[in-house]
Amino acid sequence: MKIISSKYTYINGEYKKDVAVAFNTKIVKIAPLNDLQAKFPNAQLIKYPNNSVLYPGFINPHVHLEFSANKATLKYGNFMSWLYSVIENRNTLVSNLSEDLIKEKCNEMLKSGVTTFGAISSFGAELEVCANLKQRVIFFNEVIGSNPAAIDTLFADFKNRLNESIELKSETLIPAIAIHSPYSVHPFLIREVLNIAKSQKLITTAHFLESQAEREWLESSSGDFLEFFKNFSNTTQAVTTIEEFLNAFKNIPTLFTHTVQVKESEIETINKNGHSTIHCPRSNRLLGCGRAPIEYIDRVLLGTDGLSSNYSLNILEEMRSALNMHFQADLNKLAPRLIEAVTTTASNALNLKIGKIEPEYWADFAIFTLPDDLKYEEKGSLALHTIINCESADSVYIGGEELRIKS
Ligand code: BEZ
Ligand code: FE2
Repeated sequence: MKIISSKYTYINGEYKKDVAVAFNTKIVKIAPLNDLQAKFPNAQLIKYPNNSVLYPGFINPHVHLEFSANKATLKYGNFMSWLYSVIENRNTLVSNLSEDLIKEKCNEMLKSGVTTFGAISSFGAELEVCANLKQRVIFFNEVIGSNPAAIDTLFADFKNRLNESIELKSETLIPAIAIHSPYSVHPFLIREVLNIAKSQKLITTAHFLESQAEREWLESSSGDFLEFFKNFSNTTQAVTTIEEFLNAFKNIPTLFTHTVQVKESEIETINKNGHSTIHCPRSNRLLGCGRAPIEYIDRVLLGTDGLSSNYSLNILEEMRSALNMHFQADLNKLAPRLIEAVTTTASNALNLKIGKIEPEYWADFAIFTLPDDLKYEEKGSLALHTIINCESADSVYIGGEELRIKS
């Protein structure tokens, strides 16, 4: 048994003073330090210095490790130009991927306090590395393809990749499902893949309403995607509509990534059906997609997206960008919401025993230290100062084990 004690402990959205946490691989008890030491006299005490904040390990539910080799290769500023550049450079970027590069990027996440991330995988190339990491990985096997002639092959390939990840399933490797997007996946494939998600109770995600071009294409088979699909697959008709797509997910609470170009009625459906949004502010900014209306969305998580549309995988940087992007929001309400996004909200959406400091939950922690005394302990200030003053975690624990943060 170990006991961890810090100045503040983040529990249920509040910063508790004068409590400590007893844990093995899982959290056992939360109580004042004296009480815990009386109850567990042989426990090892880990005491963090003044101004330390103990958080549950942060969750970054959306990253494309496959594109970790990108720095200045892809075209930014406009979604469609970016997509053309991805298609043109995809093979080169993937071939420049190495095990060391993936590990370096996972370590960058870890340094920012991320103990669990969601890896969107279209090829499965990073499965082995992810299976051997100390971090928890929700391994999202992605299905993509709108061409009806290719459906059988694509579905078979998807099932193979899914099964490979299921074979490696562990406490730190969680097999899951990603549907690329409404414009790029045939409704038949969506239906089949969602049947698997439902029967095997797999966490499900999908990119949804990222760009204006996507919206126009789904609404009226027009806009910038018309030219794209004429060239790409000789089609002039979208394979689905926004309504049809949302309907397919009616009984499967899903993590929709982006939801930038959503209308009020769609937000209502998302909220009503228990879906969540993974908000990726830097990716949205860099691809010229706009600002997600997170103030109307009930459940908001925060993701970095991949290095194909970002310049770092640091989740604190993502929070700082969100603070600036949503400049009309009350700062002292938005900051706590962003901390919730990477902890409690993510925990609830994923339905895993992570993201909360609560008995029975995994002892996954991220400890940060503020640079000096917080003078005004008003609502929101601790969340805000963690976001704006902390560059990296002091220490990170996963399953009760302290991990060395390599710099
Ligand atoms: C498609 O199969 O429709 C597709 C694949 C990749 C990007 C865009 C569309
Ligand atoms: Fe993405």
